[in-house]
Amino acid sequence: KKVVLAYSGGLDTSIILKWLQDEYNAEVITFTADLGQGEEVEPARQKALDMGIKPENIFILDIKEEFVKDYVFPMFRANAIYEGEYLLGTSIARPLISKKQIEIAEKTGADAVAHGATGKGNDQVRFELGYLGLNPEITVIAPWREWDLNSREKLLVYAKKHGINIDKKHVDENGNPAVSPYSMDANLLHISYEGLALEDPSKEPDKSMWLWTNSLEDAPNTPEYITISYKNGDPIAINGEQMSPATILKTLNEYGNKHGIGRIDIVENRYVGMKARGCYETPGGTIMLKAHRAIESITLDREAAHLKDELMPKYAKLIYNGYWFSKEREMLQAAIDDTQKNVQGTVKLKLYKGNVIVAGRESEKSLFSEAHSTFEEDEVYNQKDAEGFIKLNALRFIIAGQTQNK
Ligand code: ARG
Ligand code: SIN
Repeated sequence: KKVVLAYSGGLDTSIILKWLQDEYNAEVITFTADLGQGEEVEPARQKALDMGIKPENIFILDIKEEFVKDYVFPMFRANAIYEGEYLLGTSIARPLISKKQIEIAEKTGADAVAHGATGKGNDQVRFELGYLGLNPEITVIAPWREWDLNSREKLLVYAKKHGINIDKKHVDENGNPAVSPYSMDANLLHISYEGLALEDPSKEPDKSMWLWTNSLEDAPNTPEYITISYKNGDPIAINGEQMSPATILKTLNEYGNKHGIGRIDIVENRYVGMKARGCYETPGGTIMLKAHRAIESITLDREAAHLKDELMPKYAKLIYNGYWFSKEREMLQAAIDDTQKNVQGTVKLKLYKGNVIVAGRESEKSLFSEAHSTFEEDEVYNQKDAEGFIKLNALRFIIAGQTQNK
């Protein structure tokens, strides 16, 4: 077997690497993606080499721009939110990782792909629907569903036994680096925390969990104003300065982190059936969602906007459940993108203590007509027209009143 493994360089996927070599006697090809998770990806090369991976079988790719331009931005055109809260930070990254693994498999002649998601979560579904959507012939290996290393304890023992380094992203009560008491995932859009110390949804998470954003207590006491400019529904500039998609998101993350924007603590419904408690920091995404809605508020036709809002939960659910590479997602995307042609202009925002407050919006394509909406005297609108409009709309009430509603 020749297997392309989605390899973060972290504890779990290092154990998987070793396990694939031992159990499957596999030739392993590692793929490490820089998705803007805020950690160096190069150390994964040395770790892979140390475990006997051939240099030509190590793939480390910076896919930040592709991630933001072709995955995050299209999703934000839809204002996608799962269950009213979750901005889909992990969900949207999985399809791209799958796609790269399939490409690398084709390039290297590998017949299998493997991932580090457990058999209890959403990620396994997203990875594998991605693999099979793009290459129905590929063999999928999901070690978590096969091995008996089904507890943290057993994993740590296995790691020690094989000399695998255990990463320490948090600190213990004495301020020393410690193994995270959370299952985490990060990319340019968000960082997530689940499981272990968070399993009781009645308990507030420890302050030390949040790695990206300032707490509201620590956020600056003075507000900050920024502007975001849009074209075709995508942000293209901050404070008048044009930037690449990944740079836009990175810059908005910096503003959001500073002002304590984008923390949530939720219980969500996983695709596989159980509820799960998760905490997320999505600083830039939270700002983008507000800004996009503001620019749409002046540039979208009412009925197009309403229909788009009706489609949104459906679209968000497709992404959450792993159907990025599906006909139905492409259909919805085409409809959403079609509405975005005139979504351009600039939004001014005030950032303050976790809040994103719209402080102005303007567009050359604005549908906002001061002449029509003014409370002062106007020359363009005849108030008498409203009388017939209301009468006809009330006609069925009047008829029903004569017979049924007596
Ligand atoms: N619950 C979130 C989702 O399903 C986050 C998953 C995080 N994944 C992880 N491997 N830690 O999108
Ligand atoms: C996992 O189970 O691997 C992470 C959580 C999820 O996929 O929902």
